[in-house]
Amino acid sequence: QAVPAAPIGIFDSGIGGLSVLQALRAALPHERFVYVADSGYAPYGERGADFVRQRSQAITEYLLQAHGIKVLVVACNTATAAAITHLRALWPQLLLVGVEPAIKPAAALTRTGCVGVMATRGTVTSARFESLLHTFGAGVRWQVQACDGLARAIEASTWQADGNAAEIEALCARYTGALGDFGLHPGQIDTLVLGCTHYVFAQPVLQRLLGPQVQLLDTGKAVAQQTQRLLQQTQLLASTAQEAPPCPVQLFTTGALPALQAAAARWLHLPGPCCSVAQALL
Ligand code: SIN
Repeated sequence: QAVPAAPIGIFDSGIGGLSVLQALRAALPHERFVYVADSGYAPYGERGADFVRQRSQAITEYLLQAHGIKVLVVACNTATAAAITHLRALWPQLLLVGVEPAIKPAAALTRTGCVGVMATRGTVTSARFESLLHTFGAGVRWQVQACDGLARAIEASTWQADGNAAEIEALCARYTGALGDFGLHPGQIDTLVLGCTHYVFAQPVLQRLLGPQVQLLDTGKAVAQQTQRLLQQTQLLASTAQEAPPCPVQLFTTGALPALQAAAARWLHLPGPCCSVAQALL
């Protein structure tokens, strides 16, 4: 039985979901968070759906049994596409929130009627993605790009002294170049959907390459709002009266500890007592 004082569970194939954790912390300052980075098995985007389902199931089991989470946020587009239906079937009582490319908001925002989508191969070839485009994408020209290697390069930025800047820049240039023309004129792409939580950390590079007139859309804020709504509806929001927990963010990794520590310090500005980092053997 879930209780308001229980933590929110989050997982991703690696560090990309930290961008979602950032948005969740901003929206839900009284909550505790337990995050699993499956970096020992990342990236998910170029593996098969069966593999991603198995990993998602093992991590969910761990978060429920070891941490008694009250809601699970699947902060990975590839895992949402491959595994969220499977997780719902296995744990029908568990509150679940997934992340999906912002197709509906992009269709509403574009002025030129042309939108680019960057995501992993696993996401863009999934039935869920096809159905998203079918449901919300009418009347828009979608330029979809599978960005092999980009999530891996961003993951590698955590243990490379220069943040793996040259490889990230080269991959971003290659993939945005493959999408076509960007700009505000008819026929040009004026909106780019970031369909992978890792790509949020490459946003400054992408924005520089595309120019300031192109809008980049990610889903962190929408996921945080949806999680908040779900907790409100089920009366599971942490009480604002309760004292701030001593360690509101617990981070676990199946990969190298220093890599997650560096990512937390760099992206979340979270070293020290408000954040603990440990190994999860699963
Ligand atoms: C990956 O592990 O390939 C990226 C995960 C994602 O789709 O967000």
